[in-house]
Amino acid sequence: MSLKNKNILLGIGGGIAAYKSADLVRRLKERGAQVRVVMTQSAMEFIAPLTLQALSGHPVASDLLDPAAEAAMGHIELARWADLFVIAPATANIIARMQAGMADELLTTCALATAAPVVICPAMNQQMYQHAATQHNLQSLQSRGTHIWGPDSGSQACGEVGPGRMLEPLDIAKRCEGFFAEKLLAGQKLLLTAGPTREAIDPVRYISNHSSGKMGFALAQKAAEMGAEVTLVAGPVNLPTPAGVRRINVQSAQQMLDAVMQAVAEQDIFIACAAVADYRIAQVAEAKIKKSAETMQLALVRNPDILATVAALQHKPFTVGFAAETHDVEHYATDKLQRKKLDMIAANDVSIAGQGFNADSNALKVIWPNGSQDLPATDKHTLAGQLLGLIAQVK
Ligand code: PMT
Repeated sequence: MSLKNKNILLGIGGGIAAYKSADLVRRLKERGAQVRVVMTQSAMEFIAPLTLQALSGHPVASDLLDPAAEAAMGHIELARWADLFVIAPATANIIARMQAGMADELLTTCALATAAPVVICPAMNQQMYQHAATQHNLQSLQSRGTHIWGPDSGSQACGEVGPGRMLEPLDIAKRCEGFFAEKLLAGQKLLLTAGPTREAIDPVRYISNHSSGKMGFALAQKAAEMGAEVTLVAGPVNLPTPAGVRRINVQSAQQMLDAVMQAVAEQDIFIACAAVADYRIAQVAEAKIKKSAETMQLALVRNPDILATVAALQHKPFTVGFAAETHDVEHYATDKLQRKKLDMIAANDVSIAGQGFNADSNALKVIWPNGSQDLPATDKHTLAGQLLGLIAQVK
């Protein structure tokens, strides 16, 4: 009953994902939350208010100008009642109207009138999601403190494939739990690296890897939710910055090292989740390299090891490394823990399909000098919360 005594106002927009909102109400209620539902007029074309009323145990609010509904629990009271306002699905239209600060419907009015944190779970066609207008609106809302959860990527109801699927109800419910979780990292400054690095070959080519940044961004988001002041040094990834997180974008390992060293002095915790290229090109070509012989050789030189550099500092933060291994995971991870003088290492077996690089799930074997713990396969957000919980405990 992790959401006991929490009042969650659920806003439902008019998209095909609205059918999932019924399950979301159930998931929130089974965790102890009180749920009230606000629907847009178009949401009611996709799912009947009676279904949401039966599941939530409260009448569904939809009309700003309905005197009877306003007499029961008016829009201001609804907005005040909420501890958290979750809008799922949030269509491109709702997002645009919220960005503009419009109060043209009960749902958008509540978003303006509430002092509670607001969460948006986008759901729309992938082209609409990737359109510059939608991206601008999301970034603008995020910079004003709105939390953006998702979307997922995959096949869509319209037959297209790409980002724009609403997160699964269970995932949203778990994030609500995380949102109200104990602020185990309150007062802590946490620096982390995420994503891949790019090492230039010439002006148009580079060496990189398949890291998506999802694991590191999930850690950044969770750490912020747990009360930490988070600085995220991110390689080139296409992910929105989690709410409340300071983000520094870099390309190469050298740039990542520079950004980390500039920020590290005042940090309590450092987590190296980035997949940093171990080597870079010895001599980057100034002009595009032309095709000539059948084979060619590129001379590489070692990149600085960011994690080892931080761990060697005289006043180092609690330093956590990751280890991406394909075999003998525990053996190699323990070796890295000792050799780099780390406080903790989180090892993942990246040979398992559906885990590690560019996946939504992962599993970790976490090792520290006096102990270890297995964190079984789950979504990266849940896993991030578990790893941060361990860090708070061991530190
Ligand atoms: O980004 P995702 O798609 O979500 O995937 C997540 C992940 C698989 C990238 C992540 O879970 C992970 O394992 N990150 C570390 C990947 C890696 O580079 O591992 P490694 O075993 O090569 O490096 C060991 C540690 O040293 C890592 O903490 C790494 O950040 C650090 N390192 C490595 C080289 C270098 N030059 N500088 C470093 O700081």
